[in-house]
Amino acid sequence: MEQDIEVIRDKNSMRNWSRTKRAQGEKICLVPTMGYLHRGHLALVEEAKKRATRVVVSIYINPAQFAVGEDFSTYPSNFEGDLDKLKDLGVDTVFVPSDLYVREDNAGAGKGQDNIASGCISCLEGKSGNGHETWIRVEKMEKPLCGKSRPIFFRGVATVVAKLFNIVEPDFAVFGKKDYQQCRLICRMVRDLDFAVEIVGCGIVRDSDGLALSSRNVHLSPKERQEALSICRSLNQVKDAVCNGQISTGILQHSVLEAVRNAGGKIDYVEIVDQETLQHVDRIDLPVVLCVAAWFGGVRLIDNIELQAPTS
Ligand code: PAF
Repeated sequence: MEQDIEVIRDKNSMRNWSRTKRAQGEKICLVPTMGYLHRGHLALVEEAKKRATRVVVSIYINPAQFAVGEDFSTYPSNFEGDLDKLKDLGVDTVFVPSDLYVREDNAGAGKGQDNIASGCISCLEGKSGNGHETWIRVEKMEKPLCGKSRPIFFRGVATVVAKLFNIVEPDFAVFGKKDYQQCRLICRMVRDLDFAVEIVGCGIVRDSDGLALSSRNVHLSPKERQEALSICRSLNQVKDAVCNGQISTGILQHSVLEAVRNAGGKIDYVEIVDQETLQHVDRIDLPVVLCVAAWFGGVRLIDNIELQAPTS
């Protein structure tokens, strides 16, 4: 059913909207995104609709989670297309903040506007000292996996998500488990800092060939896309091997590493870690999760598989 969609562009209006709805007894679920929505995001929205009477989807390409040289400036976007998809799903409110990192010396942008055109974190660091300087670090969980090659990434994610929680004040927030470390780290932040929001993690949505959906997939050439299927194939092989009794994480990790390398991928990491702490485990002691990050051409993909103890 298509309906009108309200686009809110500043944090005061967002907070007022939210407080008004909550005072009317509505439950609010936030789905934080960076836009260029695909079926994976839409599954998060469907999950949100089950939990709450109002769904807010935020669309914001967060400069604070991109380091210099990363793909901030080429991150795909299609705002009108996103709105159409959300209208089709019956979402009534989209938050597209333009003043999230407002500061007085924001040269080049109108006062009250984020100056993100220059990209990444450097645009938040005001020369006169008026820049953003408060950060949330989930100290242990931000370090392994993606944190090794992207040391400021989770600082940026945790901080922007905390800001969104403070502005939207949602009852629930939904995150995809494709970004496994992100999802776990947000749960820990919510627990440690007593945010009054319940985090819901949603399973990975895959294309029919098995590739985990990601906004960045659009940058894969047809050849790279074929090669990238080595990731999900090898993850499934590991699942089978674990079912057949293999308990050496070294052997299992190596099999993924070889498969992805042989297909033409460049490995960032392949690691089996504890599902809660994300710390490396030497032997399979279920439940654990196998996480992979690999480059195909200029595109860095991440994927994972949860390995659970059999239920019976
Ligand atoms: O997963 C994402 O799209 C982003 O990391 C998030 C959670 C919206 C924060 O910018």
